[in-house]
Amino acid sequence: MTAAALGSVQYWEDVADRTWGRYIVAAETDAITEAQAAAPPPKHALDVGCGGGRWTDLLLEHGWSVTAVDVDPEALATCAGRNPAAEPVLVDPHDETLAAADHSVAVVVCIEVLPVTHSDWFCREASRVLVPGGRLVTVAWNRSSLRGRAAGARRRLREGRQHEHYQTSYRPWRRRLVEAGFRIEAERGLCWFPFGRASDSRLVPFCVAVERRLGLCRLPALSPWVLVTAVRGTTVR
Ligand SMILES: C[S@@+](CC[C@H](N)C(=O)[O-])C[C@H]1O[C@@H](n2cnc3c(N)ncnc32)[C@H](O)[C@@H]1O
Repeated sequence: MTAAALGSVQYWEDVADRTWGRYIVAAETDAITEAQAAAPPPKHALDVGCGGGRWTDLLLEHGWSVTAVDVDPEALATCAGRNPAAEPVLVDPHDETLAAADHSVAVVVCIEVLPVTHSDWFCREASRVLVPGGRLVTVAWNRSSLRGRAAGARRRLREGRQHEHYQTSYRPWRRRLVEAGFRIEAERGLCWFPFGRASDSRLVPFCVAVERRLGLCRLPALSPWVLVTAVRGTTVR
């Protein structure tokens, strides 16, 4: 484990440097890099749950202006220190709207922000703030995956409650996204092997190679995590 408090901004920075974290960050970097290259103008992005500012940094490097949003003042200060050009916005955990005007951004990234991605309001709000053709990149957790089922069963047995990450199956979540006016552009299934988020196991590169060789990333409906890129359509149903 890292010395930083679980869930703190330093914790997420530390885990990103471990073998499992590097695998996840590499996939997320590819997805965001591709999405920003394909997005139409204006070159303005919203980084929801920006944490220490990794994705804000990436987008700024690609010439975007970025509004970086978080509920944690410490995370937002870290992001602002790393990215003075970004606009930092502190939001309330109970907010059910995104901090942007209608059709004002061309990329929304919301990476590993469970309470937002799996909320009832997020898909609708992402659709509201994006311009037609704008890209949403987010991570969904899948209760219907083997890993999700096992984690859920373990949590129910030990603590008599649902697992906080694996509460929704990917298919209904995806349906909500489509109903909000999105077309799915890319889906990458991730995290098939049961490493903890902070794992630094030397087995990770081997397991990731097996995951790739077996093409498991192409099975989103069964994947524990799904990294999704969606395009906002011109009309909303
Ligand atoms: C796992 S970290 C991910 C940080 C960053 N997206 C990344 O991938 O490096 C989750 C972040 O989401 C933030 N967060 C949690 N709930 C939020 C909400 N309702 N609105 C905005 N940010 C939120 C947390 O404070 C934390 O900084």
